[in-house]
Amino acid sequence: MKHIFNLIIIIFIAILTIFFCPTESVSSNKTIPFNETIPFNGTISFNGAIPFNETIPFNETKPFNETKPFNETKPFNETIPFNRTNETISSVPRPLGICLKSKIVGNGTQIKTGGNPDGWCSSLIQGQIPTNQFMISTLIIKPKDGSIIPANQNFTLAIKIINLQTGYFADPETEYYSFPQELNEEGIIKGHCHVVIQKLPDDEYEEIVPNPSIFAFFRGLNDPANDQGILETEVGSDLVPGLPSGKYRVCTMVSTFAHQPVIMPVAQRGSQDDCIRFTVKN
Ligand SMILES: *[C@@H]1O[C@H](CO)[C@@H](O)[C@H](O)[C@H]1NC(C)=O
Ligand SMILES: *[C@@H]1O[C@H](CO)[C@@H](O)[C@H](O)[C@H]1NC(C)=O
Ligand SMILES: *[C@@H]1O[C@H](CO)[C@@H](O)[C@H](O)[C@H]1NC(C)=O
Ligand SMILES: *[C@@H]1O[C@H](CO)[C@@H](O)[C@H](O)[C@H]1NC(C)=O
Ligand SMILES: *[C@@H]1O[C@H](CO)[C@@H](O)[C@H](O)[C@H]1NC(C)=O
Ligand SMILES: *[C@@H]1O[C@H](CO)[C@@H](O)[C@H](O)[C@H]1NC(C)=O
Ligand SMILES: *[C@@H]1O[C@H](CO)[C@@H](O)[C@H](O)[C@H]1NC(C)=O
Ligand SMILES: *[C@@H]1O[C@H](CO)[C@@H](O)[C@H](O)[C@H]1NC(C)=O
Ligand SMILES: *[C@@H]1O[C@H](CO)[C@@H](O)[C@H](O)[C@H]1NC(C)=O
Ligand SMILES: *[C@@H]1O[C@H](CO)[C@@H](O)[C@H](O)[C@H]1NC(C)=O
Ligand SMILES: *[C@@H]1O[C@H](CO)[C@@H](O)[C@H](O)[C@H]1NC(C)=O
Ligand SMILES: *[C@@H]1O[C@H](CO)[C@@H](O)[C@H](O)[C@H]1NC(C)=O
Repeated sequence: MKHIFNLIIIIFIAILTIFFCPTESVSSNKTIPFNETIPFNGTISFNGAIPFNETIPFNETKPFNETKPFNETKPFNETIPFNRTNETISSVPRPLGICLKSKIVGNGTQIKTGGNPDGWCSSLIQGQIPTNQFMISTLIIKPKDGSIIPANQNFTLAIKIINLQTGYFADPETEYYSFPQELNEEGIIKGHCHVVIQKLPDDEYEEIVPNPSIFAFFRGLNDPANDQGILETEVGSDLVPGLPSGKYRVCTMVSTFAHQPVIMPVAQRGSQDDCIRFTVKN
């Protein structure tokens, strides 16, 4: 009886979500027109048709032992999903209620300030999630990890990526986080990648965590990869070539079409991103 009551409530909430959630109806509507503006050129296609052969395949028979297994029958009813604070933040069911407590709801722009301490809020659904045969994986191939690079000279940064259909890059000024993750017809996530270089302390034992709002170099790799899945960029600017002396970390950040971090089907997996460290010397 209680079972049926819960089910009715969930269905009721689902109906409310469909009919009365304006941000979601706008965003799902957006998924259709976006292919007009895409620079992606079908002739340079990603070799995603070849599924990734993990050396140790995912073992379906050995399920991941989460301490709190997710209960499919009551998905939006968790009171506190993890014990970070003792605040009761979710007395309203999710996802309907989550943005009610936020002062600012996302509108497709990159909102940096103004919403603290709540930041800003998105009730966007996660979208299409690939199978575990098509999880994204990335390798930085140039420069090599630990290499020494001459100061103040441009150098090539290259990455190789599998299971991402590159070249899909929504307008970050108007479409940021504005529609769900999408797969192509082969089941591969559509999106793009970024590279970011941050300076590290010269003393590698100094455990100073880099400030994410400060970086030495950032670039979106918005074009389609070549037929090897490789994307390249030249590190440097018009004004200053290369990087000044120092120790650096370079990381990839793979994103969906509308810039969300990519959403993967399982928790236990290899990272979708890569980072390496290198030294720049005079
Ligand atoms: C998308 O939204 C616009 C107005 O917001 C509406 O005119 C149009 O019919 C919608 N398209 C779809 C496919 O729902
Ligand atoms: C947009 O994508 C849809 C689905 O993939 C396709 O049917 C349609 O032809 C595309 N439109 C354009 C203009 O490419
Ligand atoms: C796609 O790329 C090919 C080869 O680079 C080029 O010949 C063709 O014109 C491009 N098509 C479009 C629609 O950009
Ligand atoms: C990938 O795995 C499949 C099934 O395990 C195997 O048949 C195939 O030969 C493998 N391909 C490569 C390139 O290792
Ligand atoms: C999968 O898990 C089962 C049960 O734990 C184990 O016996 C088997 O060796 C595992 N297979 C692989 C390929 O890891
Ligand atoms: C996983 O969960 C099962 C059932 O709850 C339990 O018997 C087992 O000991 C757990 N394994 C680990 C590694 O926690
Ligand atoms: C999952 O939900 C059902 C129905 O509400 C309940 O009977 C069951 O105990 C729950 N299981 C867990 C692991 O919370
Ligand atoms: C789930 O949420 C509904 C609506 O807020 C509430 O009536 C119900 O008691 C909740 N169930 C559980 C098990 O927390
Ligand atoms: C958080 O965890 C501690 C220790 O496990 C527990 O005593 C406390 O009740 C938890 N708080 C909440 C709000 O769940
Ligand atoms: C949360 O925990 C802190 C420290 O344990 C306590 O001072 C505060 O009163 C608690 N707040 C609530 C709402 O329980
Ligand atoms: C988007 O929201 C931010 C924060 O509320 C606001 O400053 C900005 O003007 C809005 N932009 C548009 C185009 O609505
Ligand atoms: C270095 O690369 C940038 C592009 O990242 C380019 O604008 C600049 O002209 C290059 N400088 C030299 C000296 O090649």
